[in-house]
Amino acid sequence: MCGIIGYAGYRDVVSVILNGLTKLEYRGYDSAGIAIRDDNQIKIYKTLGKLINLKNELEANRADIKNPTSGIGHIRWATHGSPSIVNAHPHTCTCGSLVVVHNGIIENYKQLREVLINKGCKFKSQTDTEVIAHLVADEYGQTKDLEKAVRNSVKKLQGAYAVCVMHKKAPDLIVGARKHAPMLIGVGDGENFIASDTPAIIEYTKKTIYLEDNEIAVVTKDKVKITDVDGNEVNKKVEILPWEPVALSKLGYKHFMLKEIHEQPDVIRNVLNGKLYDIEQPIILGEVKLNNDILKKLNKIQIIACGTSLHAALVGKYLIEDFSGISVEVEASSEYIYRKSTTDSSTLVIGVSQSGETADTITAIKQAKEKNAHVLIITNRPDSNMARLADSLIPLNAGIEVSVAATKSYTAQLISFYLLAIYLAEIKNSLEQSYLQNIKHELVQLPAKIESVLADTSVIQACARKFSSFKNFIYIARGINLATALEGALKLKEISYINATGYAAGELKHGPIAMLDETMPVLSIMIPGGITYEKVLSNCEEAKARNAKLIALTSSTDEKLDNIFDVVLRIPHVPEILSPAITCVPLQLLAYYIAEFLGKDVDQPRNLAKSVTVE
Ligand code: M6R
Repeated sequence: MCGIIGYAGYRDVVSVILNGLTKLEYRGYDSAGIAIRDDNQIKIYKTLGKLINLKNELEANRADIKNPTSGIGHIRWATHGSPSIVNAHPHTCTCGSLVVVHNGIIENYKQLREVLINKGCKFKSQTDTEVIAHLVADEYGQTKDLEKAVRNSVKKLQGAYAVCVMHKKAPDLIVGARKHAPMLIGVGDGENFIASDTPAIIEYTKKTIYLEDNEIAVVTKDKVKITDVDGNEVNKKVEILPWEPVALSKLGYKHFMLKEIHEQPDVIRNVLNGKLYDIEQPIILGEVKLNNDILKKLNKIQIIACGTSLHAALVGKYLIEDFSGISVEVEASSEYIYRKSTTDSSTLVIGVSQSGETADTITAIKQAKEKNAHVLIITNRPDSNMARLADSLIPLNAGIEVSVAATKSYTAQLISFYLLAIYLAEIKNSLEQSYLQNIKHELVQLPAKIESVLADTSVIQACARKFSSFKNFIYIARGINLATALEGALKLKEISYINATGYAAGELKHGPIAMLDETMPVLSIMIPGGITYEKVLSNCEEAKARNAKLIALTSSTDEKLDNIFDVVLRIPHVPEILSPAITCVPLQLLAYYIAEFLGKDVDQPRNLAKSVTVE
């Protein structure tokens, strides 16, 4: 993961880089660092922990920075070497003349390190990145040309990298290179930028060049040149970012996560907007290019995703199979990559990703494309690397999600799957019009129902307080809400560090029941009218008989439940098939309030990053 930014230009270099790193903080927050060219010296500042520490460090040293003209910055998510100042980027060569920031993993760093140590290089850190500094410095010693030195060096690297390099003797020149890690150039007037992602530059320029794998960028304040690894100039298109910079504000909420949970009704309205405009009319998915040729041969759908997006994919499978009868496989991207898949030109492969930058999913999608599958990407970032691989696109339009724990993007993914499933059912004519119209009608009602959940969270907060001292939880459900159980448990784990596991309720008696006693609360999701409601209720009774504390999440108004369960979290009535889009909300809130009561860092939980750009 990690985020990088480079800048050469007339603005205050320190502010531009710190501002850019703030926008990239979602990519990691173990440590941060900056190298600035100032009065022909390269000055380095590094701090451990959140970016605020680097900001304070620079503030304290501001008087020492006189005329900065260019610089590179980095925010780290540790892969090789623990989070520490010595492992923080930028890294330098032995004599300190060359600095490097890097995002990715160098797989052959041990071999390279050995060769470089034998040449006399002195290593200071445990990182894989440091080999790049020594390698480029070694090449520079021979060529005295930084661009050439970077080109020669990257040919020796195996793995993934987005790197920015500066050398004391190459004034205001930043050389960038990428392979399997995102990097783009922001083109300005008298200033240019290199960054991992667009939010870092959008405040200054909308003109963007996306670097492809194995391309090298040579950037000064007046020039941007892109070459391949052999030095041949590549003519690149300058694209204009289609969005305005957004001020990231919590709008009075204590955390971004809480704000984003509360945004969900509007997010759903946004997703539906323009796609479902009249329940009697077919769904319109403008950027889905499934023409008749593709549809005629389509015999299978594969959905590939990670984490929360994988849970949305499980709901998607349920919906598409139920509505259209097309068989759907769901697979974690990291698993798809390393097996012989059955993807071929008659497969529709759907990649789901909030960020559009998840390395595992990008690799899986590239493999699917090599097999000539039609690729549909569902993402919140239509400007992402993943979106640029898409044959068809469903943009989520959920707005920037800052909190590491995905909430509103999950709901937007679910709603996108409802629309896609209906769209396929309409093409295949597989369901009664009246049934589809009812589903569409219920979809339109959803935002208001979620608003009513959000309007009074007192029972959820009380439940959170009551259960925040428990060390383990089991979440159970059956059918379409199994994904909700998995997602609810993931939310709790991510932000409170409490061990929570989601199970198919019917599986409880096949093993997990052995763990049940008064220390193991069981949270069950039960929607009356659903075909498995009574069965899940029986599973809860079985848990109660083993002294487990019980929490129900239900739309049932049956007062008898209050005698069986320790807490009943109630949601408005909704047909079971639509319920995942609302049952997720109280579970997000429960996780949020538990983490908040425990004093955890809700928006930036330990060890995580918003965008996982390493495999
Ligand atoms: O950006 P993506 O949706 O591809 O990210 C996938 C996962 O890394 C992500 O959902 C992760 O599990 C979140 N932290 C969930 O809250």
